[in-house]
Amino acid sequence: MEKKIGEVLLSVDHISLAFGGVKALTDICFGIREKEVFAIIGPNGAGKTSMLNVINGFYHPQEGEITYKGIHRKQMKSHDAAVQGIARTFQNVALFKGMSTLDNIMTGRIIHMKRNLFWQSLYLGPARKEEMENREYVEDIIDFLEIQHIRKTPVSRLPYGLKKACRVGTRACGRA
Ligand SMILES: Nc1ncnc2c1ncn2[C@@H]1O[C@H](COP(=O)(O)OP(=O)(O)OP(=O)(O)O)[C@@H](O)[C@H]1O
Ligand SMILES: [Mg+2]
Repeated sequence: MEKKIGEVLLSVDHISLAFGGVKALTDICFGIREKEVFAIIGPNGAGKTSMLNVINGFYHPQEGEITYKGIHRKQMKSHDAAVQGIARTFQNVALFKGMSTLDNIMTGRIIHMKRNLFWQSLYLGPARKEEMENREYVEDIIDFLEIQHIRKTPVSRLPYGLKKACRVGTRACGRA
């Protein structure tokens, strides 16, 4: 696979974030290029999670701005960040325990499904076509991750490693 580093895709410019008197981030700047693997490291309390929360739209900085794919933004809703393709993972696995691997991964497709509740409840025509297309997408991800054997297993019964694989699948399908 070709891995040529490209143009700056995400630019963080002079971001400062404080919680009352606690300065979590002060004048942070960096750029992440297309296909680049970029790591943020630092001691406990350095502000790594806060930085990710700003990029993700969960925290809104008092100063600075983020530019993603050429669009400047001072504030962003987490949902919009997900729609634009900014995926986020958490230390905990954040899955729906009672649901199967397949259904959990399918939740990642919800933001890509446009038909309203009316069509979905009737499960006719466009809604049905849309669901089938998204299901195919999910099956491809399941094949890629080689987790076909746990498709129908409730995630609460899976060992941690497979829960993580399921979580990767939900992210690959678009859920933050
Ligand atoms: N929601 C919040 N309310 C108040 N203070 C916060 C909040 N989130 C983070 N902070 C503070 O901001 C600073 C940076 O915290 P942050 O969690 O971003 O650090 P971190 O680098 O992710 O640390 P760790 O390595 O422990 O995960 C800390 O002083 C923390 O106490
Ligand atoms: Mg952290």
